Amino acid sequence: MPLNKELINNFITVTSKAAISCYDFIGKNDKNNADKAATDSMRNEINKLRINGEVVIGEGELDEAPMLFIGEKLGTGGNLNLDIAVDPLEGTNFVAKNLPGALSVIAIAEKGNLFYAPETYMDKLAVCSGVPHDATDLDFTVEKNIKNIADSLNKDIKDVTACLLNRPRHKKIIDKLNEMNVNMKLISDGDVSGALMVTNKKYNIDIFLGIGGGPEGVLAASAIDAYKCKFQGRFIFENDKDIERANKMGIKNLKKKYDLNEIIKGDSIFCATGITKGDLVNGIQIKDGKYITETLVTHKNSNLSKIVVSEDIIKT
Ligand code: FBP
Repeated sequence: MPLNKELINNFITVTSKAAISCYDFIGKNDKNNADKAATDSMRNEINKLRINGEVVIGEGELDEAPMLFIGEKLGTGGNLNLDIAVDPLEGTNFVAKNLPGALSVIAIAEKGNLFYAPETYMDKLAVCSGVPHDATDLDFTVEKNIKNIADSLNKDIKDVTACLLNRPRHKKIIDKLNEMNVNMKLISDGDVSGALMVTNKKYNIDIFLGIGGGPEGVLAASAIDAYKCKFQGRFIFENDKDIERANKMGIKNLKKKYDLNEIIKGDSIFCATGITKGDLVNGIQIKDGKYITETLVTHKNSNLSKIVVSEDIIKT
């Protein structure tokens, strides 16, 4: 059964309501309760839909996440079988500290088409369109990737812009980018948005790279699949617990590098609603007691990629 327009609208409502549920927590320095509010709302709203959904990327495993745990079944049933990846609140610090960039995010695909990702880190690479697929690779040096991007786009290296999380673990990459005189956009959090900025020239990001959350990598890949951009990811299994999780999920080769088409297949829908204003979308606004949201929506099969403004949403 195809993923249709009605379903797209349903999921815009799901992420819009989850985003709104965080509104009262903006700037309240309480990221756990903000996350809980978004998770509760998302679960309630998905459970109203006539789907047979299963969470493949969620808030954790059953023992650590009471809701939206990996493997949780959602929806009222029917014959639309879906894999669902959720991040009800992407950027918990952004909401807690009233900073730009918090999103409520969901991706769906037909059953069996979305990667079951463990809660570990992922080394990621996302590259804008116009750069041939084989010109960049997670296994190339930073220098080689940047030079190849500059050559492919016919730009000077000083005009290439790289986005990455500002973390001590990225010191070597940051030093190399500095040495090469590459422009950097160093983000404090929110690498779903960071990776998605390669999808449109207006964000002026040519490459996203570095290590962030694995689930966030799968979510970003789901959206990037609707654009002619590249995404590669490699999970990082640091300790016995990570390795045990990987084994449980059936991942045999722990060093495998995944291309986009191994992370998400077939048709898909992605929705990211702004909570606080960010690079991709505006945050929640209130007018006459009603909420207004902005959602970045992609739908692979219809080549849809647009920002949808939803008005008159009532908090539930
Ligand atoms: P949360 O919303 O769960 O706090 O995640 C924010 C985030 O910045 C992600 O976007 C990113 O993938 C991850 O944290 C990076 O993790 P770390 O802060 O451990 O480097």
